[in-house]
Amino acid sequence: MTQVIEKLNELKQQIEEKIAAAKASSEVEDLRVKMLGRKGEMTLLLKNLGSLPAEARKEMGKKANEVRDFVQEKIESARVRLELEAQNNALKSEVMDVTLPGRRKPQGRLHPITNTFSRLEDLFVNLGFDIVDGPHIETVYHNFDALNAPHNHPSRDEADTFYINDNLVLRPHTSPVQIRTMETRKPPIRIVAPGQVFRRDEIDATHTPVFHQMEGLVIDKGITFGDLKGMLEIIVKYVFGEKANIRLRPSHFPFTEPSAEVDITCYVCGSGKSDCRVCKGSGWVELWGCGMVHPEVLKKSGIDPDEYSGYAFGIGIDRITSALHGLSDPRLYFENDVQFLNQFKGA
Ligand code: DAH
Repeated sequence: MTQVIEKLNELKQQIEEKIAAAKASSEVEDLRVKMLGRKGEMTLLLKNLGSLPAEARKEMGKKANEVRDFVQEKIESARVRLELEAQNNALKSEVMDVTLPGRRKPQGRLHPITNTFSRLEDLFVNLGFDIVDGPHIETVYHNFDALNAPHNHPSRDEADTFYINDNLVLRPHTSPVQIRTMETRKPPIRIVAPGQVFRRDEIDATHTPVFHQMEGLVIDKGITFGDLKGMLEIIVKYVFGEKANIRLRPSHFPFTEPSAEVDITCYVCGSGKSDCRVCKGSGWVELWGCGMVHPEVLKKSGIDPDEYSGYAFGIGIDRITSALHGLSDPRLYFENDVQFLNQFKGA
């Protein structure tokens, strides 16, 4: 009997020491399992009491229960204490100084070219146009033949256009989207096709091998040059303001007849000052090409030119972006100089 009491006292002391030394609640939990778990030392000891004579069993049982309750209570309070300690330590290490200035996250914004595209897309969607896409890698047929470009047309030259093979090119303009649209849609057609175009140009202050256009195409019964002019005025006034005026100069494109260049009143000097670096004294700035869709082009795409007519235009996006912001060097658009780009706060 004394042996059992000794053992109980020994366990009690051991547990007290271990609990006092424990540094984490997980250690206390291990101790609980070791003592009070199903196969724990205390549990086994209590089980063995059954083999004692009745008198001794009663006395020992009382003592053993006391020790077990004591151990349980010690373990529970140690667990609570250690968890609190851990929480306090975490709070201490996470202290923050609310008086420190905040860290500002750099905010991105749309590229000026993207802004011009979206402004124009808004306009055209409101005018009832669909926005369509075409491939950057285009067939020679869609890019030249269907657009009525003669075999000796200079744009077909390898010096001007990037050829992938004899039949494929990187599109040098968005005009082939006209053909793809007429092949797949029936008139009335009202579309604009925004996108990148590619030309074999050396990079300099007025040329980049990649630039941007927005092709427009309207086909219906009874469309006239007057409709084209009206539309051009709407676009130019929308982009440059009510005061901007246009003038149309005769020009030549294989896929339009008649063809014209759209000029606008100089957006820098307004009146043609002799020292104006943009209009060079003429008072006009060339913007983009346009014209009435050539009957041959309609025919090649399966539209009867006796029934339908239409107009087309190819807006030079980089040029009008430069005009809007008074920039003269298109290279800036592609250098990704953050200081340059930061100036365009939603412009
Ligand atoms: N594709 C021509 C170019 O890149 C621009 C152009 C001119 C487009 C007249 C047109 C047009 O749709 O009618 O130079």
